Amino acid sequence: MYSLLPLVVGFCLLSTVSATATIPNKIYGVNLGSWLVLEPWMLPGEWLRMGGQDCERFHCADCIRSEFAFVQAYPNTADQKFNEHWDTWFTQDDVNELKDLGINTVRIPLGYWIVEAIVDRTTEFYPRGGLKQLRRGLEQLKNAGIVAILVHHAPPGVSLPNEVFTGRCTTDVEFYTDYNYHRALIWAAVMTGLSHLHPDFSTVFAIQAVNEPINDANKTPGYGDYQKNFVKTIRAMEDLLGIKVHQSRRRHHSRDVDASDSLNVTSVFDNMINQGPCGYEKEICDVLREALPILIDISFELPGLSFGSISGLDRQPPIMTNFMDFSWQYNNASNPADAAIGPQGYDDHLYYVFGGVADPNPDAYLRSICNLQRVQNDANNRNNPLWFGEWGLATEFNNTDEFLVKWADAQKLAYSKGAGWIFENFKIEKSEEAGDLAREWSYPEAVRRGYFLRDPAALHDPNVCDPYISPANSTATNSTATNSTAATSTGFCIIRFSSSFKKLLFVYLCLLVFMCL
Ligand SMILES: *[C@@H]1O[C@H](CO)[C@@H](O)[C@H](O)[C@H]1NC(C)=O
Ligand SMILES: *[C@@H]1O[C@H](CO)[C@@H](O)[C@H](O)[C@H]1NC(C)=O
Ligand SMILES: *[C@@H]1O[C@H](CO)[C@@H](O)[C@H](O)[C@H]1NC(C)=O
Ligand SMILES: *[C@@H]1O[C@H](CO)[C@@H](O)[C@H](O)[C@H]1NC(C)=O
Ligand SMILES: *[C@@H]1O[C@H](CO)[C@@H](O)[C@H](O)[C@H]1NC(C)=O
Ligand SMILES: *[C@@H]1O[C@H](CO)[C@@H](O)[C@H](O)[C@H]1NC(C)=O
Repeated sequence: MYSLLPLVVGFCLLSTVSATATIPNKIYGVNLGSWLVLEPWMLPGEWLRMGGQDCERFHCADCIRSEFAFVQAYPNTADQKFNEHWDTWFTQDDVNELKDLGINTVRIPLGYWIVEAIVDRTTEFYPRGGLKQLRRGLEQLKNAGIVAILVHHAPPGVSLPNEVFTGRCTTDVEFYTDYNYHRALIWAAVMTGLSHLHPDFSTVFAIQAVNEPINDANKTPGYGDYQKNFVKTIRAMEDLLGIKVHQSRRRHHSRDVDASDSLNVTSVFDNMINQGPCGYEKEICDVLREALPILIDISFELPGLSFGSISGLDRQPPIMTNFMDFSWQYNNASNPADAAIGPQGYDDHLYYVFGGVADPNPDAYLRSICNLQRVQNDANNRNNPLWFGEWGLATEFNNTDEFLVKWADAQKLAYSKGAGWIFENFKIEKSEEAGDLAREWSYPEAVRRGYFLRDPAALHDPNVCDPYISPANSTATNSTATNSTAATSTGFCIIRFSSSFKKLLFVYLCLLVFMCL
């Protein structure tokens, strides 16, 4: 066992020169919702002042309620209006506040239009200039030590009917087609390239293929193949950059750093674009050949992106590919675990306020969350590590402050049995139009009101669930906790030990690694 020590020290030396693009030991996160994909309900006053309109949730196609409708309505001023929004909705003050509150992760919803070259401007209307803002935000987050998940929240063609967060409110859902999967893969290749080549993107540890696809798998033909191609695209892009994953039984992390080998990225890109040998499937080669020129064009506009040579020591670990978990869909859904090559994470979203989860009363809510089986079920289906990428405090009934304290504790407790949690949202407008929305949907506001403690790891009452756990569920909960803790430790700590003595040693070694990071 002691022979591991030099290895650990070796990792430490490498880690000090590379950045920190690894999943935190436990994710305490918030969504940067409504920043680069605007959802008017979070900032109803600003939306109206920008020139947007208000109409009912499932009738949002009837008015100016989405980015698409806005840009269509104001083609000449939209870019400038959105740029003002991006500048003011997510700022250095917000980053400072998140850092103060111990937030270690952000999940950043993005539209496909942030990669401007894949937008068909004859029929698709979206604002330009988002990528510069994303770079700006990632730089600020990086300086604060906060890591990021990039989410393809609004992919090309629209992924859900009549939902503003898809970028366009319409029943014409076209994402689940070869043409749009192909564009989504180009997006993934570009984001992977940026994440490995742009220093401000170096804290991106995961890229999510699509946010919340339609639950009915019968309505998402080809989605299983898209999942596989998404992973292959990211790994092929990384392969070009000299970043390898070992395919082994240990799915969580593997890293191949050869400090001596350095790579001329320009020359690698040139070869691929000019039809040099491509060892991947045709679709993946086609995607790379379209994505690389886009990356090169971006490098002329985005400060800090260059394609000089990179050496082994500059290289980031492989990106974690990320999907909604297998249970998100029904009707013979594909299991995203079948797509994994190298590190992969799983996302689940849980909102009680939209109904269908538990009876609308405090007791039923607590009984439900305290007996949640999702982490265990997912682990049993190889969807591990699992994090809860969206959740909130809102309920279907009029709740009291006293209830929200318990509700916050119990949800954090449940989600922390997996890899952790990402609250929806980091901010909600405070205005007459928004009313008291921030109370249940803004993380900092919920801290100010005392529903959350300032330390995201802390609970008012660690025993909040005790009265609600049914005996049949308690053992399952316990063993899941043990499992997911081991599974979600950082990439360096993939090895699982069985006896408690070895566990202690393992913890000690991990501590050593973290101390030198
Ligand atoms: C990288 O390759 C390009 C094109 O093949 C060449 O022009 C450039 O000088 C090379 N750069 C380095 C640092 O070797
Ligand atoms: C479920 O999907 C798999 C592969 O996607 C297919 O082989 C199988 O026949 C399907 N089963 C049903 C009941 O449709
Ligand atoms: C724990 O992890 C092992 C190995 O990954 C897996 O086989 C098992 O099903 C997991 N158990 C639970 C309860 O999640
Ligand atoms: C909740 O509170 C609002 C306003 O305080 C009230 O109008 C409404 O009837 C209440 N709903 C229930 C179910 O008690
Ligand atoms: C766990 O508790 C939930 C909610 O009370 C219940 O629906 C479920 O059947 C229980 N599971 C087991 C294995 O007892
Ligand atoms: C909790 O898990 C441990 C093994 O990790 C087991 O020995 C113990 O009996 C479990 N406790 C309960 C209450 O199920």
